[in-house]
Amino acid sequence: MYKSLVRPFLFLFDPEDIHRFVFDGLSFYKYIPFARKVVRSTTHSAIELKGLKFKSRIGLAAGMDKGAEVYDELSDFGFGFIEIGTITPNVQVGNPRPRIFRLVEDQSLISRTGFNNPGLPVILKRLANSNDRNYILGANINRDSTSSGEQLEADFLLLFTKLYADVDYFTLNWGSINPDDFEAVLLALTGYRKTQEEQRKIFIKLPADIPMEVLDLVIQLARQYHTDGFIATGPTMDRRGLKHLTPDEGDKIGAGGVSGKGLGDKSLKIVQHLANLVKGEFIIIGAGGVMTPKDAVAMIAAGADLIQIYSAFIYGGPGIVKSMDRALTKKH
Ligand SMILES: Cc1cc2nc3c(=O)[nH]c(=O)nc-3n(C[C@H](O)[C@H](O)[C@H](O)COP(=O)(O)O)c2cc1C
Repeated sequence: MYKSLVRPFLFLFDPEDIHRFVFDGLSFYKYIPFARKVVRSTTHSAIELKGLKFKSRIGLAAGMDKGAEVYDELSDFGFGFIEIGTITPNVQVGNPRPRIFRLVEDQSLISRTGFNNPGLPVILKRLANSNDRNYILGANINRDSTSSGEQLEADFLLLFTKLYADVDYFTLNWGSINPDDFEAVLLALTGYRKTQEEQRKIFIKLPADIPMEVLDLVIQLARQYHTDGFIATGPTMDRRGLKHLTPDEGDKIGAGGVSGKGLGDKSLKIVQHLANLVKGEFIIIGAGGVMTPKDAVAMIAAGADLIQIYSAFIYGGPGIVKSMDRALTKKH
């Protein structure tokens, strides 16, 4: 029904306009009597990792609910964890629109949103009632686009300390700041964490195009600063996986990272590499190109403990979450 009726209608409109329409609908849906009870149902692939209880191994990747508007409603679809953000201290407008492009035949997206979000104060207000949850909530954080040097570190520390009480984990994107700054940020955040009774987890999200020798450096830093896990991966800059995109169409779209099926097996390979080196020591979250229940099973078989999706939710609809969850508990 989603693919034959709903999706063709939604795909008639600009991706961000339809995103707004769906989010407005979701914020209204909780007021419809019994609607949440009907949508919610039990999940099967529960797992406990480093003291965090995930009701399902399928999570929502960063970038869908950048402003923490409907994370609670989205959890009804069966996600075991939801990552809000990327959140920055102050409101960011991001890149000019259009900045998200659907490549339907390739089941992919090209995006260059540029971390648009309403900023920390707005998000803190929206999180005020987030404590009564049966799912794990994470916050992907980054500096304001204008911050560098000491201000960069101060931005991360501000986000970390202010959001600390409201979320279960934080994600830092490797590649969005330089390695020296990244280390300074890790030092500041883990220093603050040591002073706290509750130890919030810190995950490092890897770009899909990370060279293997750089990955080894990231693992070394993760060990040194006792972070908790990796998200592998974000989008790729490599467009060779887009079999239906002509060079002209690609030029017309312009810059942007590829998400969805066009990532091919890049993320899977990084998960395999990570699993060989750090399985059991760090939580491994496989993200990128997981489009079907079969892909989810393959990602877990490659060594991921958990999975995050973005494009599969757009192309497969909300039902994909439970289909993946069920596939992970079937005997193979
Ligand atoms: C439109 C769009 C916006 C995104 N925004 C963010 C973001 O703000 N922060 C982030 O870490 N990742 C962001 N991502 C990357 C996703 O979280 C995810 O890592 C990537 O899309 C690969 O997963 P997928 O193949 O399931 O889509 C975004 C992706 C898309 C398509």
